[in-house]
Amino acid sequence: MNIVHTIEQLRAALASSRHPAFVATMGNLHRGHLALVRQAQQSGDFTVASIFVNRLQFAPHEDFDSYPRTFEADVQALRDAGCKLLFAPAEADLYPQAQTFRVQPDPALADILEGQFRPGFFTGVCTVVFKLFQAIFAGKSEGTALFGLKDYQQQLIIRHMVRQFALPMTIATGATQRDPDGLALSSRNGYLSPSERAEAVALPRALQALATAARGCNAGQLPELEAQALRALQARGWQADYLTVRQRENLLPPQGALEGQALVALGAARLGRTRLIDNLEF
Ligand code: PAF
Repeated sequence: MNIVHTIEQLRAALASSRHPAFVATMGNLHRGHLALVRQAQQSGDFTVASIFVNRLQFAPHEDFDSYPRTFEADVQALRDAGCKLLFAPAEADLYPQAQTFRVQPDPALADILEGQFRPGFFTGVCTVVFKLFQAIFAGKSEGTALFGLKDYQQQLIIRHMVRQFALPMTIATGATQRDPDGLALSSRNGYLSPSERAEAVALPRALQALATAARGCNAGQLPELEAQALRALQARGWQADYLTVRQRENLLPPQGALEGQALVALGAARLGRTRLIDNLEF
């Protein structure tokens, strides 16, 4: 695997590729990322991953400084997974000047759920992803970028961004990878103490219970079901930001009878100092 640090080196390394397949990461790679890298090998003629902890998507009080950085282990894992090229820019390589031009996603999608609790988060994500896409796919006849469904709202917003800017590539998604007890893999799981790790599975279980309760209901009953789910998590010592059922395609609250609709239950909650998110399509 070749490792490059600047956009110029990246473009040179990709010169022979007609169809790059790209996995963007912030490092501290787990099975979820590596499954995407393997999936990428079936999607294009050249698998490229990036590792970049993007300051623009962290609020000042968030964990940018303490975000786990495990570069050597990540390089080995990417090699083992068959990645051909790693783009690992320093901040000055990707943002040689202050990044004052930003990609502002539609507030209808980006100011709800995660965006409500992390204002500006999706602007930071879209800005770096747009820049990475330009660096990798500009001038290519085809391209694929792969994102995990664990970050459900993120992959949806990026899909909309690609469509609206007519970017020359398609978005593919990979299933959320879970530990045997059901906890979704996340770089932030490493912040959990052993007792918090044992408790953390309550989040996917709460989403499962909410989805099961919602299935036979009418949309009018959802607010009460969601409030009950929230209270149940709070009673276990969590600080829950949201537990909600939305339409998969636009993350708006569903209308009418829920049976037969393409829905997703989404949740975000804090256990001690660790904020976890998860979702379940149903
Ligand atoms: O999902 C992530 O790890 C990040 O939001 C991404 C897509 C790599 C952008 O920094």
